[in-house]
Amino acid sequence: MRRPAPRLEYYVPHNGGAASDFAECARRGLCGPKKSLDPRFLYDERGSEIFERICSLPEYYLTRAETEILERAGAEIASALPPRCRLIELGSGSSAKTRILLERMNEAQGDVTYSPIDVSRALEGASRALLESYEWLRIVGVEDTYESGLRLAHSSGDAPALIAFLGSSIGNLTGSCARSFLRTVASVMRAEDALLMGVDLDKPESALVPAYDDAAGVTAEFNLNLLHRINSELGGSIDVSKFEHHVVYNAGERRIEMYLRALEGQEIEVCGGRAELRRGELVLTEYSHKYTPEGIGDLAAAAGLRVERTWHDSARRYALVLCSRA
Ligand code: AVI
Repeated sequence: MRRPAPRLEYYVPHNGGAASDFAECARRGLCGPKKSLDPRFLYDERGSEIFERICSLPEYYLTRAETEILERAGAEIASALPPRCRLIELGSGSSAKTRILLERMNEAQGDVTYSPIDVSRALEGASRALLESYEWLRIVGVEDTYESGLRLAHSSGDAPALIAFLGSSIGNLTGSCARSFLRTVASVMRAEDALLMGVDLDKPESALVPAYDDAAGVTAEFNLNLLHRINSELGGSIDVSKFEHHVVYNAGERRIEMYLRALEGQEIEVCGGRAELRRGELVLTEYSHKYTPEGIGDLAAAAGLRVERTWHDSARRYALVLCSRA
């Protein structure tokens, strides 16, 4: 007798996944002349929780805009997918918006296999919550970076795949990294697969800066959490009160730049390294690139993808694009 497949399979790579190089990245990022910390490390358990709060802030329109589009276009997207299509999601977080897609896919095709890929430990809890809601769902989760997680998740089945890359996470990559990342996605895709990507559109600075520097200080807490993480996980000696959250919009590059700014000159120790910071010195923690409609088409074409459909929210602040392999 054949045993039914388990409803939850969950992979964590042997090398410890994304967490293993935090120490080396923090040491290199802080001890060099131009200081930065990899935004990947913003998303530990606490960072992911704070990010969930960011998503419902009045100033942070991105999540609401994307949800509005998914609610309006979800059924259309699901009904255009090939039969037995599975959903692979890059950077799923709490999987909240995913519920809309999963429900529409279930209405269109019945049982659904879902592969969330995320560097955050929150992945497993979110997966269990989804399984409790949906008896027609099977989950094959991967706790890893997007690229290796995608290869593993894609090769774990042979059904066609809708690869979702929501939340405008593409914006957190610089132009060349975004192209090379999407080229990797395209190289994994088969002819019947599709990529569904959320992209934040460029807009005036007066709308962008508050979204990343909110009145309640939640984004500041998110940013400063990186320093708390270095202290608690890497034995750092950083006095977090000597830093502040700092955001600028770089119009030339069409991007929000998020920094930690040193409020006074100081010396800190990180993982066997010593970093000296001047008063006012900036540590780059994240870019969030904004796109024009032409920019989205150019990016897709440069990666070997073709934009098949684009949807916007009613205020046209945000785009959801469906791409196939070119
Ligand atoms: C995950 N990512 C798309 C967010 C953004 O809008 O760039 C991360 C973020 N950082 C600060 N607020 C939100």
